Amino acid sequence: MNTKVQKIDPLNLNELDLKEAKDFILNGDIVAFPTETVYGLGGNAFNPESIEKIFIAKGRPQDNPLIVHISSLEMLKRIVLDIPANAKPLIEHFWPGPLTILFKKNDRIPDIVTASLPTVAIRMPSNPIAKKLIELTDVPIAAPSANSSGKPSPTSADHVFQDLKGKIPLIIDGGICQVGVESTVLSLEHEIPVILRPGGVTIESLKKIIPNVIFYNQLTESKQLEEKPPTPGLKYRHYAPKADLILFRGKEDNVFNAITNYAYDLIKAQKRVGIVQFTDKFRYDKQISDKDQCIIIQLHYNKGYNEIARELYSILRELDQKLVDYILFEGIPEIDLGTTVMNRLKKAAVKILDV
Ligand code: TXA
Ligand code: MG
Repeated sequence: MNTKVQKIDPLNLNELDLKEAKDFILNGDIVAFPTETVYGLGGNAFNPESIEKIFIAKGRPQDNPLIVHISSLEMLKRIVLDIPANAKPLIEHFWPGPLTILFKKNDRIPDIVTASLPTVAIRMPSNPIAKKLIELTDVPIAAPSANSSGKPSPTSADHVFQDLKGKIPLIIDGGICQVGVESTVLSLEHEIPVILRPGGVTIESLKKIIPNVIFYNQLTESKQLEEKPPTPGLKYRHYAPKADLILFRGKEDNVFNAITNYAYDLIKAQKRVGIVQFTDKFRYDKQISDKDQCIIIQLHYNKGYNEIARELYSILRELDQKLVDYILFEGIPEIDLGTTVMNRLKKAAVKILDV
């Protein structure tokens, strides 16, 4: 299959530009498109055959349900049994945007979308291309991230092309994703709202609307055991580059020294190393930084966590392209989007070193 890449400017959107994508979706085919979080691989949520194509193209396990994307509250009402009272203020504050909420699904959503769960994960994206595409098709679009299963999510059309060329007919290139990490997945099924996956909407901002919200891992263990697997996606290794990622946590200077020593040893053993660093305070010395086999990527804290979140997946992909054997990653504080970044890094890591 030939994969066409179509460039569209999200800020200068012409409906005609989306005609081909719309036709693919309504004919049961699948299309990759930008959202504000990451690129999605979308198909008509009402059409089980198109959903099956998504699972095949990604190589995704069938027991991992998809997020359904909508463009209006009217569309939400078409696919859920009810809208719980505590969902309403959240919808008002965070939609359109990177918050996914679980609802009880009605029969119009086929089981293949939700891996037979009674709930369906729904969000309204804010990216103009994503919104317009849903509006034009007038059907909810089921879309996981448009990467091969297990790889870091794509934040550019090029990332999608690397993973899915030859497997899907069309990629809409709307530039770099602004948020860079996936949406926050929130369950309102129980008395306490539970974040199943941290994401683009932080717990700090959710607490302003629902003060009692907690992370899934803050549920007591006994409560976790009582419940069914919270989000099937949690059991798979995710976001992983090909290289072995080692995550270092601790005081800045401890982390710096530990990475320096680790890098020395790897370089001596003829391994290729990538280091991802965040502070200006320390500089890796020439024994490390002058080596061809060592690539140092520096991001600046002062730009805040949003910048780190936006760059995260593209850094992991870039280091893979440079064929490093190891990625030594400086951990960051778990505040705001730092929590989401660290969640992804912990999942991607083969080892976490507290120093
Ligand atoms: O930002 C995003 O959320 C992106 C863009 C494309 O919207 N999508 C995305 O989809 O990240 P995906 O499929 O890569 O991740 C969906 C997550 C998985 O962890 C899945 O297990 C969980 O949402 N999920 C979906 N439906 C669920 C349900 N009914 N109950 C619990 N978890 C669910
Ligand atoms: Mg994904």
